[in-house]
Amino acid sequence: MADYVKVATVDEVPPGEMKIVEVGGEEVAIANVNGEFVAFSNTCTHRAGPLGEGLLVDDVVECPFHGGQFNVRTGDVVSPPPSEPIKTYPVQVEGNDIKVAPA
Ligand code: FES
Repeated sequence: MADYVKVATVDEVPPGEMKIVEVGGEEVAIANVNGEFVAFSNTCTHRAGPLGEGLLVDDVVECPFHGGQFNVRTGDVVSPPPSEPIKTYPVQVEGNDIKVAPA
């Protein structure tokens, strides 16, 4: 099993916000969904839009490039144009630290 690595602190990602970090050489977006932290690929499967710079509403992120939407818990496509899901990553919170396991 891959080790969890610290990528951010809880106070860096307030509810409804996202932060882009690097995990295992890949860009990963951390999102605070109403107090729960989730991690997913920052790269849209459509044309590689930076999802962490998009719009987060509850557990759905909208890509800033063409408006595609993904569920950030499951990675599933909510709205096209993307057709492929994004990768999601396991998250652990220890004290004030947010940790993510490389997929
Ligand atoms: S790059 Fe994300 S919707 Fe096109």
